[in-house]
Amino acid sequence: MAFAQYLLPALALAGAAFAQCSNSGTLTIASAADASQLASCTTYSGSVAIETGLAYPMDNNGRQQVEVTTVRTITGNLTVTDAISLSSLSFGSLRSIGGFELGGLTVLSELSMPALTEVSQLNFTALPALQTLDFGNPGLTRAESVLITNTGLSSLMGISNLEQVDTFNINNNQALQNISLQVTSITGALRIEANDGYQSGLTTSFPLLETATNMTFRNCSTISLPALNNVTEDLGFYGNTFETFVAPNLTSAGGLIFVDNTELTNISLPQLTAINATYQIANNTQLKQVDGFTKLSVVKGALDFSGNFTDVQLPALTQVQGAFNLQTSARFDCAAFDQLSTNKVIRGKYTCLGMRTKPGGQGTGSGSSGGGDDEQSSAGQLFANLPVAVGGTLVLAGLLQIIL
Ligand SMILES: *[C@@H]1O[C@H](CO)[C@@H](O)[C@H](O)[C@H]1NC(C)=O
Ligand SMILES: *[C@@H]1O[C@H](CO)[C@@H](O)[C@H](O)[C@H]1NC(C)=O
Ligand SMILES: *[C@@H]1O[C@H](CO)[C@@H](O)[C@H](O)[C@H]1NC(C)=O
Ligand SMILES: *[C@@H]1O[C@H](CO)[C@@H](O)[C@H](O)[C@H]1NC(C)=O
Ligand SMILES: *[C@@H]1O[C@H](CO)[C@@H](O)[C@H](O)[C@H]1NC(C)=O
Ligand SMILES: *[C@@H]1O[C@H](CO)[C@@H](O)[C@H](O)[C@H]1NC(C)=O
Ligand SMILES: *[C@@H]1O[C@H](CO)[C@@H](O)[C@H](O)[C@H]1NC(C)=O
Ligand SMILES: *[C@@H]1O[C@H](CO)[C@@H](O)[C@H](O)[C@H]1NC(C)=O
Ligand SMILES: *[C@@H]1O[C@H](CO)[C@@H](O)[C@H](O)[C@H]1NC(C)=O
Ligand SMILES: *[C@@H]1O[C@H](CO)[C@@H](O)[C@H](O)[C@H]1NC(C)=O
Ligand SMILES: *[C@@H]1O[C@H](CO)[C@@H](O)[C@H](O)[C@H]1NC(C)=O
Repeated sequence: MAFAQYLLPALALAGAAFAQCSNSGTLTIASAADASQLASCTTYSGSVAIETGLAYPMDNNGRQQVEVTTVRTITGNLTVTDAISLSSLSFGSLRSIGGFELGGLTVLSELSMPALTEVSQLNFTALPALQTLDFGNPGLTRAESVLITNTGLSSLMGISNLEQVDTFNINNNQALQNISLQVTSITGALRIEANDGYQSGLTTSFPLLETATNMTFRNCSTISLPALNNVTEDLGFYGNTFETFVAPNLTSAGGLIFVDNTELTNISLPQLTAINATYQIANNTQLKQVDGFTKLSVVKGALDFSGNFTDVQLPALTQVQGAFNLQTSARFDCAAFDQLSTNKVIRGKYTCLGMRTKPGGQGTGSGSSGGGDDEQSSAGQLFANLPVAVGGTLVLAGLLQIIL
């Protein structure tokens, strides 16, 4: 069999005999002849790698295209890294792969795997020209882990029908407009961060997600978690641009963290009853009222709020096992929380401070000399180093808190 394919820009490797092939090591495709070894396989037991220096015919633009039509399953990994002239990669029949790693493919713009449904680990790194995934419909439905970083993708269509995933990490994809996943549970970590190139911001939506382990959302414009019931470790929101955050069905979380969400004005978690680790709210500059935690009863870790709050309501609180720190730039009535400290609802170190020029996190505030703030680091104690400019009214407010 002569390799007429050599002359074609796209190699179509359609084998006549379908078989199970295997290789104890990795089949490294460096040339069209190597690729032809796959042509007769439907199942390839082993790994396949297409690597740097691929000796493939180039088209008029100096681009290479690899097309394999027969293989349905690769039990090991499919790895394609640093093939810098590869513009198109197509596996027409491939349904499942072990690990799937694409990295440093600077001109790859077409990735066609219309039959793909299952991958154990999907790692895509540095694929700046890849704007869409041609994974057919439904596309990928099962993956243990997904890592997509520094690609040109504008959407994750092709993996949005994932029913199951353990870890999911999507970062630094500057064209990404939205992420929507149909998963019901995520057993490992979910991280979405720094996909912040799209003008209107990245929207994320997990309409069916009920339970998750550790979720970090950074730099998103909307986050929709309508069905979320619980998160066992941390649920963290950093540097997002949402104005409101609602999780109508969330009943408990490990840590709950809101930091640097500079447009956030309203957090509403009406069913949340327990936070099993730290509960932190910091540097959400527009967040004035915290009144959306109407059922929150138990905080097993520390409660650490700093910001510009005028009003913080935690009407159902029965237990804070760790420290309690609330510092705000606004005038603030600590009386309700003083009471909780006195009653040992708050068990750890208690700090509640209004009129702070620099509201600080846990561990700051007591006995500090900075800023001339008034400080009340526990019920009945006042450090009266008041801002000169503010004058008598404040002193009175402070004294009243002690008297009451
Ligand atoms: C696939 O890649 C992973 C990660 O590099 C490696 O641990 C594993 O052994 C590879 N599997 C095979 C069959 O080569
Ligand atoms: C995928 O990336 C993860 C995290 O960097 C790594 O542990 C794993 O070995 C990679 N798997 C493959 C198949 O490249
Ligand atoms: C979100 O992605 C879908 C494709 O999955 C697309 O049709 C839609 O226009 C995108 N919406 C936004 C706001 O980017
Ligand atoms: C978490 O939510 C899932 C799905 O709703 C439920 O089956 C599970 O019991 C919940 N776990 C906890 C600890 O609340
Ligand atoms: C929220 O929880 C209620 C009661 O468990 C359930 O009926 C409802 O379907 C859930 N909402 C979503 C969006 O899953
Ligand atoms: C948090 O603690 C409560 C009370 O111990 C428990 O019922 C709940 O399952 C825990 N939640 C999670 C998500 O682990
Ligand atoms: C959750 O994930 C974040 C980001 O990956 C990590 O910093 C944090 O330690 C994790 N939390 C837990 C409880 O494992
Ligand atoms: C992304 O979020 C981080 C906070 O986690 C913030 O420092 C950074 O400025 C944000 N990036 C953009 C572009 O908003
Ligand atoms: C936040 O939103 C909830 C639900 O929409 C609403 O009931 C509540 O009054 C809002 N709180 C603030 C401070 O706007
Ligand atoms: C909040 O912002 C201040 C000032 O920029 C910074 O020192 C502090 O570390 C931030 N807090 C958190 C929890 O990121
Ligand atoms: C309070 O608001 C001011 C003005 O919006 C902002 O500069 C400052 O960073 C905010 N402080 C905190 C701790 O959020």
